[in-house]
Amino acid sequence: MIQALQIGGGLIVAMALLQLVLGVGAKTSALFRERRLDARRLQRFNDLADLALRTAETDRLKSGSTWAGKRKFRIVEKRVENKCSDICSFYLQPHDGGELPPFLPGQFLTFELPIADQPTPVIRCYSLSDSPGRLNRYRVTIKRLPPPPGADAKVPGGLSSTYFHSSLKEGDVVDVLAPRGGFVLDLQSDRPVVLIGGGVGLTPVLSMLKALDDSGSPREVRFFHAARSSDDIVLVDEIREIASRKSNVHYKVLFSAPTGHCVEGRDYDLSGFLTVDVLKEYLPSSNYEFYVCGPPPMMASLTEQLRDWGVPESDIHFEAFGPASVRTVQKPRVSEGAAAGVEVEFARSGKRLHWEEEDGTLLDLAEKHGVRIASGCRAGNCGTCATALRDGDVTYVTRPASSPAHGSVLMCVACPRGNVILDA
Ligand SMILES: Cc1cc2nc3c(=O)[nH]c(=O)nc-3n(C[C@H](O)[C@H](O)[C@H](O)COP(=O)(O)OP(=O)(O)OC[C@H]3O[C@@H](n4cnc5c(N)ncnc54)[C@H](O)[C@@H]3O)c2cc1C
Ligand code: FES
Repeated sequence: MIQALQIGGGLIVAMALLQLVLGVGAKTSALFRERRLDARRLQRFNDLADLALRTAETDRLKSGSTWAGKRKFRIVEKRVENKCSDICSFYLQPHDGGELPPFLPGQFLTFELPIADQPTPVIRCYSLSDSPGRLNRYRVTIKRLPPPPGADAKVPGGLSSTYFHSSLKEGDVVDVLAPRGGFVLDLQSDRPVVLIGGGVGLTPVLSMLKALDDSGSPREVRFFHAARSSDDIVLVDEIREIASRKSNVHYKVLFSAPTGHCVEGRDYDLSGFLTVDVLKEYLPSSNYEFYVCGPPPMMASLTEQLRDWGVPESDIHFEAFGPASVRTVQKPRVSEGAAAGVEVEFARSGKRLHWEEEDGTLLDLAEKHGVRIASGCRAGNCGTCATALRDGDVTYVTRPASSPAHGSVLMCVACPRGNVILDA
């Protein structure tokens, strides 16, 4: 019902705009007959029509999932993307042969993977890395995570990414939830935009670039692509191809650890890490919309430096790929609104616990004390950890990408605001 109203609301806005457009259209055709229509009016007419259609489409997509629950997808192509073979793209088509709904540039898919020896399906999110307009197949691009450096020999590599790389092959079928996520490019804006992708964090911003290219947008686009070296950079040819066609798209590659066979000027433009000082060399001002996705240290330092440079919060958009990045980027907000020394009651487990800031999120607290709560992305994206809140209030470490149902909280990004009672 709420969704229907939201869709209805979007349509009302879009219809009002269309009426305006049609009104202008009727007048313009009369003016046209009288040969008094000037180019600027025609342009205005086209802009309004475009805006009306985009508003309707954006609202439809933002209003919720484009299919309910899980849907089976076949892996129709698996492609190794980099020299060190730790990043692969997977192209997916619906197993039911049905339509492939569009998505907003920057959104992700959520996978439910039946990995051997895991008590429940493993849930992970992967950004859609291709154009939202390419509607015959989705693409996700996944980095295989090794154990952390210096970890005990018993520590396994990443569950889901290893499964994708080592077990899944072309022809296999996977369970996928519909595209979602709030880290999306504002297609209605005409302001210049900076897209920053570090490592495999390139994926959502590449989709944004492709959306701008597909729409023929004249917006100034500054694309900064950070990687270690030419061994692990991915999808660079796709970006170069767009930049070579579009005079409004400017592309810079930075290598933090170029190897002997990386040639400056051919493989990369700059060595070192991406900082605001680097951005300042290329941008005439800070008056851009910034979209940032990359490894935690890059996200933490860049978002902070952008704020210091005077970029308003509303112009800094970023995506965290996991709990580590959420915590690093949002650290100051963990305590914002959260009340230290409060009681957290897990009613069904019969546990009443004391929460201090160092206990972290409610999910961290639950796990530390043996209260079982299903989780997936651990970043407020997939909705798996939604738990009913019987009493009290919470504050979020990071704004969840999907709003939990009324009366529920996303435990992986929630901290208590005072005493709380949870249905877990
Ligand atoms: C919105 C969103 C979009 C994303 N998009 C992408 C994308 O486009 N591409 C992409 O590659 N990723 C993306 N991610 C990240 C992805 O969802 C996964 O988090 C990532 O693949 C790691 O999952 P995993 O199951 O392989 O690793 P996990 O099993 O979660 O392990 C993570 C790390 O912990 C280590 N580890 C495991 N057990 C231990 C232990 N006992 N002690 C110490 N260390 C341990 C592992 O070795 C590994 O290094 C995205 C995440 C989000 C939230
Ligand atoms: S685990 Fe995905 S939203 Fe909490």
